[in-house]
Amino acid sequence: MSIENTAKHPIPAGFEDALVNAADYERLYDESISDSEGFWAREGKRLDWIHPYSIVKNTDFTMGQVSIKWFEDGILNVAVNCIDRHLPTRANQTAIIFEPDDPTAPTRHITYAELSDRVNRFANVLLSQGVMRGDRVVIYMPMIPEAAYAMLACARIGAVHSVVFAGFSPDALANRINDSGAKLVITADTAPRGGRRTALKSNTDAALLHCSDRVRCLVVKHTGDQTTWIEGRDVDVLKLMSEVSPECPPRPMNAEDPLFILYTSGSTGKPKGVVHTSGGYLAYAAMTFKYVFDYRDGDVFWCTADVGWVTGHSYILYGPLANGATTVMFEGVPTWPDASRFWQVCEKHKVTQFYTAPTAIRALMGQGPEWVDKHDLTSLRILGTVGEPINPEAWVWYDKHVGKGRCPIVDTWWQTETGGHMITSLPGAIEAKPGSATLPFFGVKPEVLDAQTGEVLKGNPAEGVLCIADSWPGQMRTVWGDHERFMETYFQQYPGYYFTGDGCRRDEDGYYWITGRVDDVINVSGHRMGTAEVESALVAHEKVAEAAVVGYPHHLKGQGIYAYVTLMNGVDPSDELKRELETWVRTEIGPIAKPDLIQWAPGLPKTRSGKIMRRILRKIAENDYGALGDISTLSEPAVVEDLIENRMNRP
Ligand code: WTA
Repeated sequence: MSIENTAKHPIPAGFEDALVNAADYERLYDESISDSEGFWAREGKRLDWIHPYSIVKNTDFTMGQVSIKWFEDGILNVAVNCIDRHLPTRANQTAIIFEPDDPTAPTRHITYAELSDRVNRFANVLLSQGVMRGDRVVIYMPMIPEAAYAMLACARIGAVHSVVFAGFSPDALANRINDSGAKLVITADTAPRGGRRTALKSNTDAALLHCSDRVRCLVVKHTGDQTTWIEGRDVDVLKLMSEVSPECPPRPMNAEDPLFILYTSGSTGKPKGVVHTSGGYLAYAAMTFKYVFDYRDGDVFWCTADVGWVTGHSYILYGPLANGATTVMFEGVPTWPDASRFWQVCEKHKVTQFYTAPTAIRALMGQGPEWVDKHDLTSLRILGTVGEPINPEAWVWYDKHVGKGRCPIVDTWWQTETGGHMITSLPGAIEAKPGSATLPFFGVKPEVLDAQTGEVLKGNPAEGVLCIADSWPGQMRTVWGDHERFMETYFQQYPGYYFTGDGCRRDEDGYYWITGRVDDVINVSGHRMGTAEVESALVAHEKVAEAAVVGYPHHLKGQGIYAYVTLMNGVDPSDELKRELETWVRTEIGPIAKPDLIQWAPGLPKTRSGKIMRRILRKIAENDYGALGDISTLSEPAVVEDLIENRMNRP
């Protein structure tokens, strides 16, 4: 399926004047590594500080004492940096273009002045509900401007937001409300998407049954759909916003005060709350946005992610707004009403930078180029991808049909934990290779380590696990409420390094190629999923005795979810039961976690000490059972024969 292509793709014409050219990249990158403090002392100034920092960097990757602080004595307010400071020059410029799910419904252009009004009012509503500095607020919203207002309103008053993707189930929402200890949840009546509606308010009602009854619920009446209403708990936000003052003084915050918590999947246990702080995160999101997308005044930037993921945080909201940019918020999906929706929106708003996930590109590629070709895409200047490795075929299609060979493609590798882009090409500086994230961003020091010995592999080519040798301002600071887990997850295995969880190859030219996760995290349509989460959802079903979940290559999703399920004694397997388990997982976690393939497993391959041998399960799921390797340590080798015999993934 993949096209072997390691040749560099020349930078298209017209990028001679990019913000960063090849010579700048080399010079600035060297400086950012050799004089990290000097480099970031200067870069931190792209933010407005109420009280400037005198200490730039204070970081320690030593296991047991990991501590990460940037600009630690600086005082600022994130909302002021995203709104107020632009008002003297950009009050009438559009900050957010809202494109609704229904293409015939009106688009909204929200200027910086309007954004300021809404965010101040929203902030006053939060204060009126008793939300104070440091309190947590969960946001469970559709992709509508009110989601952005809510996030920025939290930032304005120093509350910590935790956005939960609207595709998550009530259970998943309840877990996040409880783990973060949120005082308040903000939601909407219903969320239209692809012509259907998700009942966010009733999901929230269901979630709140499992939370403290002190948690209040702010509701944005978005569609006007009927919902239940609990007096004293539920609050009509839009109504209150019209009643409160349009001025709310920003709270001066310390650079290291948390800005948000975002839950993400790990290889074990329940999702962890990744904590990002105010100063370093914003400086890093702002800087990567500007350079990686070569953003200029007058550009219209569109990132198709959801604000429920880190990509939405950094590149729909914080990065663009910190730069005074115009950013598109799209409520819909790429394939509804038809496969031309993305291109129709690009044409309508004259989008200049378009940033999406490989899974979307593959889905649209499958519909044929005619959906793209009928639209005028001459406004596009730069294309980007994120979320998973892009297969060269999809890269070539994106370049040819969307970019018409004129637009550099930036393949941006990064993670929820990193806050912003880490390894990526730059439009006017780094020649792309289809499928490679290319070279490190300023201040990022990647190393490839031997997975077993932990030895740093010098020289090219090299293949191993990807680690980062030094801190950068956008780095996560801790796991919410569990610093021990933070250290164990990222700093224990390879002492002195931040371990990314990704495998990686560095080629002869020093280009980085991400080969996928080396832990039990899978990447389904660019959504990160812990196999352990899906397993615990499955075993929570009364008919399931045991379950093991692995990823397998999927032509559209990148990876699909393959579940091996052992049923309780006396329960008969059936297709009906499969459907039942699929629905079960959807309600336990959300639709994105639904297994693609379920195999009934009379037993699972285990070592004599009882550990499930996932390596074998992965191979069978990949239909690559010829390469099982050593199975002599299995307690019951016959189990494997049965699994191979009845494997589900046969092309
Ligand atoms: C994968 C999304 C290859 C990787 C921003 C990483 C990528 C995980 C790329 C993080 C890319 C992300 N090329 N792989 N350009 N971007 N990944 O936390 O495995 O949702 O560890 O952050 O996605 O996913 P997360």
